[in-house]
Amino acid sequence: MTVCEYKPGLEGIPATQSAISHVDGQLGILEYRGIRVEDLAQYSTFLETAYLLIWGGLPNQNELDHFQYEIRNHRRLKYRIRDMMKCFPEGGHPMDALQACAAALGLFYSKRALDNPAYIQNAVVRLLAKIPTMVAAFQLMRKGNDPVQPRDDLDYAGNFLYMLNEREPDPLAARIFDICLTLHAEHTINASTFSAMVTASTLTDPYAVVASAVGTLAGPLHGGANEEVINMLEEIGTVENVRPYIDRCIQEKHRIMGFGHRVYKVKDPRATILQKLAEQLFEKFGGDEYYAIALELEHVVTERLGGKGVYPNVDFYSGLVYRKLGIPTDLFTPVFAIARVAGWLAHWKEQLGENRIFRPTQIYTGSHNQSYIPMADRLQIWDKQPLAGRV
Ligand code: CMC
Repeated sequence: MTVCEYKPGLEGIPATQSAISHVDGQLGILEYRGIRVEDLAQYSTFLETAYLLIWGGLPNQNELDHFQYEIRNHRRLKYRIRDMMKCFPEGGHPMDALQACAAALGLFYSKRALDNPAYIQNAVVRLLAKIPTMVAAFQLMRKGNDPVQPRDDLDYAGNFLYMLNEREPDPLAARIFDICLTLHAEHTINASTFSAMVTASTLTDPYAVVASAVGTLAGPLHGGANEEVINMLEEIGTVENVRPYIDRCIQEKHRIMGFGHRVYKVKDPRATILQKLAEQLFEKFGGDEYYAIALELEHVVTERLGGKGVYPNVDFYSGLVYRKLGIPTDLFTPVFAIARVAGWLAHWKEQLGENRIFRPTQIYTGSHNQSYIPMADRLQIWDKQPLAGRV
């Protein structure tokens, strides 16, 4: 067997073969099943895109109608999940709530049948249908309100905004939110997708696959960055403060949230579209005090770090869009998860098609042939050695 060089973060190491999506990080191109994301954002809808990702081709009208019908029929939350959510602390992060709910959904479908197409189809529909309801329900329940029932006459994006804000959304707002979901639906083998694939490779159930991916998406270096961007803009406060803030980050080697990407070395194409969507919303519903700060931030970071290929990523402008849609800051990452479920499920299905359990190797850096120290001696040794120095 060829032993490869160790690369921290597996940079540049292929961990799978996939036909789902493709990124050209130098040219700033993202394709889902060979179709440019710009075209999908303009002409498609999130559910049609989810179908494309999961089933491998664009649906015809009947297939799309049936898929949408199935999803509408499975949007309601199980009352036991709602009861479970009542016990969640209101101060808990919504990503933790979502991870728990996604895993709990598996309790209702514990008879796994991964070789049965109907089981796969049902799991896809249930997860896509119920995840938005879970996110909206947690938001209302932590405020002490009852969850709002989904509305069958509203589409996927419009229904989510309705369940969240307890009023029917403006059509432009709903359409823009749908485009946001399309843009976040899939992105090759990123951390959460890899986590989904590793979990899938053990042949566990899809609810565990999605729960494990949600947990991975939550971190600030991944999906959690969108929330951190808004916190950062708030902390900076004024356009004048941007340059000293960036100087300080660079000097102290702090990451600037919403910038940089393992694959893109130019501006993320999704950031370009999201910025335009934010501007459309500002035009219709009024501006956002943070936008000028964001523009200056992009300008200064590009000037200072562009040479290293550090440019805005998908998380930089998405928060400004979500704020205008009435989505609270700590729901930005759950909203990312609502969209990314499509990509995770596509990879789950692809993984099952040619499965081999993930079991990489490691380079051991520990010691060998250590003697077992009896407890009495151990205490004396450790008393003399500071905690940080113990191996
Ligand atoms: N701020 C300042 N410097 C940066 C940043 C940043 N956000 N991103 C990369 N760099 C610098 C980094 O210091 C390094 O410089 P040097 O070579 O001098 O040490 C160089 O660029 C390469 O960075 P890296 O650490 O090798 O990049 P990585 O591929 O390991 O990390 C990343 C990618 C996304 C984790 C990182 O860019 C980052 O921490 N960004 C901020 C968090 C963020 O916005 N995450 C969202 C990522 S995109 C969507 C998603 O995954 O959800």
